Amino acid sequence: MNAMHEDIKTILYSEEQIRARVKELGAQITKDFEGSMPIVIGILKGAIIFYADLMRELDLAAQLEFMIVSSYGAGTTPGQLVFKKDTDANLEGRNILIVEDIIDSGNTLYLLKNELEKRKPAMVKICAFLDKPARRTAQIKADYVGFVCADEFVVGYGLDFAEKYRNLPYIGVLKPSVYEK
Ligand code: IMP
Ligand code: MG
Repeated sequence: MNAMHEDIKTILYSEEQIRARVKELGAQITKDFEGSMPIVIGILKGAIIFYADLMRELDLAAQLEFMIVSSYGAGTTPGQLVFKKDTDANLEGRNILIVEDIIDSGNTLYLLKNELEKRKPAMVKICAFLDKPARRTAQIKADYVGFVCADEFVVGYGLDFAEKYRNLPYIGVLKPSVYEK
């Protein structure tokens, strides 16, 4: 028995549901970005699984780039963005799509979008696999969302708890006993 699966209380989105939704997102993004070669920026590590699936649903020539960022907020203010890995791609005049695992407070994406706007792209759009609107404090909205989910801590499909569960193929809610350990 796989120890990861035993820690999951409920499955929120199955592999089949995810596959179908990513296909729909891919079709929508393909349509919206038609005729341009967007720079698609994956935010590591959380977005990696979603990113890899989504990219193969885009019927577009795209440039693949990655960043590692974290935000340190002070209370309800968006705070400071730290680039642990930036991209050296020239964004000027380009269409940018940021791909993120989840929007929670929205701080990370709020700060990141502002930073990228300074590099004079033609446009910046955001695609988040999950959206937890209940916890939003920053003024930011994703242009594309896989699923809107309730305010529960979820893991799998790239999302972790203490660096574990990222490679679960579905989105699940952890058993409380796992946190309480
Ligand atoms: P925020 O939108 O700036 O608050 O931060 C979003 C980041 O917090 C995501 O990129 C995740 O790394 C992490 N995060 C938020 N909610 C969850 C969750 O339910 N499970 C796992 N990671 C989460
Ligand atoms: Mg993250």
